[in-house]
Amino acid sequence: MIGTDVAKAAALLREGKLVGIPTETVYGLAANALNPEAISSIYAVKNRPSFNPLILHIANAEEAEKYALSIPKLASELMKHFCPGPLSILLPKSDLVPDLVTAGSEKVVLRVPNHPLTLRLLSEVEFPLAAPSANMSNTVSPTSASHVQQGLGEKIPYILDGGSTIVGLESTIIEVIGNEIFVLRDGGITREELEKFGEVRQMKSTKQVQSPGQLSKHYSTRKPLLLVEDIEAYISMHPNKIYSVLLFEEKEINATKHLLSKDYDLAEIANNLFGKMREADEDDSEAILVEPIQEVGIGRAVADRLKRASVKN
Ligand code: TXA
Ligand code: MG
Repeated sequence: MIGTDVAKAAALLREGKLVGIPTETVYGLAANALNPEAISSIYAVKNRPSFNPLILHIANAEEAEKYALSIPKLASELMKHFCPGPLSILLPKSDLVPDLVTAGSEKVVLRVPNHPLTLRLLSEVEFPLAAPSANMSNTVSPTSASHVQQGLGEKIPYILDGGSTIVGLESTIIEVIGNEIFVLRDGGITREELEKFGEVRQMKSTKQVQSPGQLSKHYSTRKPLLLVEDIEAYISMHPNKIYSVLLFEEKEINATKHLLSKDYDLAEIANNLFGKMREADEDDSEAILVEPIQEVGIGRAVADRLKRASVKN
């Protein structure tokens, strides 16, 4: 069921049920983060591997002190500046956070989502919300209540409808070490914005997965999505195939077009990406083509999602 009843969402969450919630990035699949049974059902419903931890969503930056054992000075400056907003911070967890939320890790990712309905919900309930994106594992993240309905509608009792999301892809996940900001996942807050606060580095991926959202195959469409240097050249080399294309700007092209922006506006491209991937998945093409995007600003997060959705990866 889809609706805008915050009290109903709160009541269901208190009973240990799951609720789809809007955020500024993508929709989340929320549960009472202090209720281990409710958290287990997130993993079950999404078919999510049990080693892939969940983000803890809190009502405001002050709440972080309850769930983090300690907060580096730079991390708390970043929180003051960017919360609520699409920045998630990895911190040592306090004993209040169940091991199921962090998949056994001593660290927890905290975030204050910037959406009026979900902020109201968070201030109404007595607990933080554990929430991954509200899609089945390895499918495209949802940017509207109806996307959540399509993927999980039969498995959850309620989806709080907050309209289409305004960022369109997930939050940036960072860890602060000393004066340095390590990026675990590019997202809604750009590296350029973070650089005003400290040196920004890429978190080296280790064998032990730091952020399994970084698993190479992720965000997949059902059809193959191919990242190709030159769409027109590729199509002319494969004349017997039917392609759809994701375009960053208007172009004359002999294929089913899904326009992410008229004029290469990166924020618009990011916001339309997942919705257009879904559209392309449903048209009558055999495969989806897209060219590499400029890796600046939020383009870096778009590039990351495209690489991990594409078949060569
Ligand atoms: O924008 C977002 O962050 C959305 C909305 C719903 O808030 N959430 C989201 O959650 O993208 P999810 O579960 O799809 O991705 C969270 C990523 C995963 O890659 C997970 O591995 C990583 O965060 N993560 C969560 N807790 C972690 C931890 N304790 N240590 C390392 N990585 C963690
Ligand atoms: Mg996800």
